[in-house]
Amino acid sequence: MRRLTKGLITTAILSAALMSSSANAFWGSKKDSELKLGYLVKQPEEAWFQTEWAFADKAGEKYHFKVLKMAAPDGEKTLNDIDTLAASGAKGFVICTPDPKLGPAIMAKAKSYGLKVVTVDDQFLTAKGKPMSNVPLIMMAASEIGYRQGQDLYKEMQKRKWDVKTTAVMAITADELDTARRRVDGSIKALKAEGFPASQIYRVPTKSNDIPGAFNAGNSMLVQHPNVKQWLIVGMNDNTVLGGVRATEGQGFNAQNVIGIGINGVGAINELSKSEPTGFYGSLLPSPDIHGFKSIEMLYKWVKDGIRPPNMTQVKDVVLITRSNFREELKKKGLGGLLKN
Ligand code: GLA
Repeated sequence: MRRLTKGLITTAILSAALMSSSANAFWGSKKDSELKLGYLVKQPEEAWFQTEWAFADKAGEKYHFKVLKMAAPDGEKTLNDIDTLAASGAKGFVICTPDPKLGPAIMAKAKSYGLKVVTVDDQFLTAKGKPMSNVPLIMMAASEIGYRQGQDLYKEMQKRKWDVKTTAVMAITADELDTARRRVDGSIKALKAEGFPASQIYRVPTKSNDIPGAFNAGNSMLVQHPNVKQWLIVGMNDNTVLGGVRATEGQGFNAQNVIGIGINGVGAINELSKSEPTGFYGSLLPSPDIHGFKSIEMLYKWVKDGIRPPNMTQVKDVVLITRSNFREELKKKGLGGLLKN
């Protein structure tokens, strides 16, 4: 009897142990599939950030985590988003901050909840305005891509055999944003290196990083230079250059006497799809797909396996898309879904 009881007890313990280990396996995998990571972007209306989100979702599908996509248009919303993330049990987030100077506040809040942070596109700054280079960042190679913008503008101008004497550069700046400053500086550097006269390069700051802001900046510059016959337009992204192009149109310019080349590519699709060409000649398409996928993949591996991402990952690939090749180029990158037809 005693032996029987002992046997029963042993069996019971064994099966309980077995059950609990299989339960662990079961709950464990369920828990994995429920890992939540945030993805906060400053301008959810931009095609760039929508593309990043779409590719972050692909990483989520691959590794079985949930991406909580949140808009972070200002400081208050950003800090609230972090509270919401913590409350929902997320383990970290990727962020393109609405203002680089929020860096210390964002990091302090994330730390208070034990959340890991990976930055994308725009680098955090300290209170003193120095880059917070110890927070992992993935961004485009800003100076190089800007340089390419200047070279391609010059090349297209030469192809059209414009008289340099009557041509000027409208450079719409956003110097408080480091990546914008580096792109525009790179572009101007290239134009000068190609031989474009520095005295015909006019810089004008935009008040907001969107089409209306750049439109106003462009207008205020155009009225000061009524004798210019052809314009080259430099700006940090598609919307900035689009705003500049719209301003030239208001003054009677068109596709024959304006060359604008944007940066982002995905923000240029509507413009390049128009039935007639405009002054917006093309756009440099970097890799929003890689930014979106890789940033959250790095965060996932950090949370899951303790592998801290490098402080800096620069994405250099870029291709010039114009009316004649944008469909193929977008398809080649797996971005064909953004095309309407
Ligand atoms: C900045 C710009 C965006 C986009 C990203 C790409 O955040 O505001 O439009 O160009 O950089 O890195």
